[in-house]
Amino acid sequence: MTKSEAQQRINKLYEQIDDLRYRYHVLDDPSATDEVYDSLAKELKILEREFPDLANSNSPLNRVGGKPLDKFVKVRHTARMLSLNDAFSTEEVKEWEERIKKLVPVQHLEYFAELKFDGLATSLVYEDGVFARGATRGDGFMGEDITQNLKTISAIPLKLNLELKYTEKFPRDLKQRLARALSLTGRIEVRGEAIMSKHAFATLNKEQKKTGGTEFANPRNAAAGSLRQLDPQVVAARKLSWHAYQLITDLGQTTHEEEHLICAMLGFPTDKHTQVCGTLDEVNNFREKILNLRQQLPYEIDGVVVQVNDREIFKRLGVVGKAPRGAIAFKFAAKKATTVVEEIKIQVGRQGNLTPVAVMRPVEVGGVTITHASLHNEDEIKRLGLKIGDTVVVQRAGDVIPQIVEVLPKMRSGKEKTFHMPTVCPVCGFKAERQMISEGGEKGTALICSNRRCPAKDLKQLEHLVNAFEIYTIGPKILARFKDEGLITDAADIFTLKKEDLVGLERFGEKSAENIISSINSHKIINLAKFIQALGILHVGEETAIDLAAHFGSLEKLKAASFEEIDSIPNIGGAVAKSLYDYFQDKRHLDFIERLIQAGVKLQVTSYKLPAKTGPLAGKKVVVTGMLESMSREEAKAAVREAGGDWVSSVSKNTDYVVAGESAGSKLAKAKALGVRVLNEKQFLDIIKR
Ligand code: IVH
Repeated sequence: MTKSEAQQRINKLYEQIDDLRYRYHVLDDPSATDEVYDSLAKELKILEREFPDLANSNSPLNRVGGKPLDKFVKVRHTARMLSLNDAFSTEEVKEWEERIKKLVPVQHLEYFAELKFDGLATSLVYEDGVFARGATRGDGFMGEDITQNLKTISAIPLKLNLELKYTEKFPRDLKQRLARALSLTGRIEVRGEAIMSKHAFATLNKEQKKTGGTEFANPRNAAAGSLRQLDPQVVAARKLSWHAYQLITDLGQTTHEEEHLICAMLGFPTDKHTQVCGTLDEVNNFREKILNLRQQLPYEIDGVVVQVNDREIFKRLGVVGKAPRGAIAFKFAAKKATTVVEEIKIQVGRQGNLTPVAVMRPVEVGGVTITHASLHNEDEIKRLGLKIGDTVVVQRAGDVIPQIVEVLPKMRSGKEKTFHMPTVCPVCGFKAERQMISEGGEKGTALICSNRRCPAKDLKQLEHLVNAFEIYTIGPKILARFKDEGLITDAADIFTLKKEDLVGLERFGEKSAENIISSINSHKIINLAKFIQALGILHVGEETAIDLAAHFGSLEKLKAASFEEIDSIPNIGGAVAKSLYDYFQDKRHLDFIERLIQAGVKLQVTSYKLPAKTGPLAGKKVVVTGMLESMSREEAKAAVREAGGDWVSSVSKNTDYVVAGESAGSKLAKAKALGVRVLNEKQFLDIIKR
């Protein structure tokens, strides 16, 4: 064969293989058989080997390139990767509808319902039609670059179908809109779920068992574990699959349904069980239908996703916390099993809170073995009427967290024992005090260890900090050991550890000492939000830490902030503000932070910015004062951020816009005095295109 003949043949093979891939993965067309595909691929492989300079990076066989990585590189998502709020009953879905109907007073809302795949959220970016980058969700802002691994998944196109071949069956007007948008767009982002089929999972576990590898609890863990492999060869052998569920780039879609259609036209596998629903009754029926199908599906699902079909309205509904308001995960009830509570232990938390935990006879629930379940507090034990020795019903809430839902009193033998909360901390022996707490809007009491320096508290704080710094080589056991051996007294000491310190420890190898030290050193640089989270301040979790970082931009400013300033930040309530303010008033805490910095911890200079700074308010500092008619304060804040702007609480000469609503007061006056541009609500809405 001459070179030019080979080139022609290779081109034909590319086309034919792409065609089969599309028919198999996107159109679910069974006439595209594996055998034909394999045979064509084999011929292509031989030709590419014979004429190496003809093989190009677009080759459909170019899936397992590259060497194993040392570690994954972090990447910033251009738009935040959100998750979904859950609903478990028709009532909860009804409440969801009522909430959104209040915000968008339209007569009729149309929904789009689809399967909720149980896998791993991923983002795929294409540059000029070529797969350029794939990433995990991470914390929603930053994920890990797993491009090499995703490339091995044959369901993911390496090249988009920009020519829109094989799309005769799609609506013509949508196709035209898409073609126009594609001619103007270089970068396309699509998100979807990486999954492992039940069959691939069973095969993998059998293989793992044979070779003595770790068996996975369920397909989701297997998929996640596989994508975390540094060697793409290994990933390729794991037979993962992928389904698109979200089109991030504006390609002319007006509904979520069109997002699915566009994804399919471009070459992504999409869910075939979707339905546009005019009412919640239809949504409920859809979910019922899918529940009946669940067993037969080739992959695991844990519910259905329901969202407002119209993208305009969906956008307008905005985001609460980490989830879009316009979508909900309507989950299937958790799987249940029965077992026996053998003991109730007390766990001491980071803030010294004593939590009862049921230790149970091991039982399998939905493929995972459960041995422990938190009982939260004494009230919960009373509510359940639980005694030690009782037979109970356990489930995994949201299919993850084990939970005791019911006691079966008829199963009692008479030997069951009533449980009492201890009066002292089981770790340090100090008195346990009862304190009022409010959690998620509910008030209750909690038992707290009164010892400020309780070793259990310290240890939990340490664990928390090490996790926030992502130093995964140091688990709880190693931390406890470092502490017992006197190597560390608090977290700052971790960062001054040297290899020699560890090698001296009994049963501690040179290699693991090296691993630990190098992982500590490579995680000394941390962004502000993570750092704030790492401090383990009472009531300050990931979300609050992000809000604080975005608001203050530097640790210095946060340290110096008044209670009033912290309290004025949207999303941050009084109790949280007080806890933060008190924390930074305590000299010991300031010393601790100083020691962390002395030990080499570096805060990343770039401040932790909320969603991508693009949009009509990009780079603008916006103050909203007074009451707006169309949205609450929280919604206005979300809208400003979504439009790329910075939400600021006080007016200065650096402020770009002051949006003045009903009964705006001193901030409006100040804006006028400083000559800052004032917008009324309508002007504001016009700018953000609502
Ligand atoms: S839409 C705004 N659709 O469920 C977030 N998510 O619990 C976009 N998931 O992180 C999510 N199937 O990884 C959507 N058909 C589907 C899904 C789906 C599975 C996952 C996704 C998300 C998680 C939220």
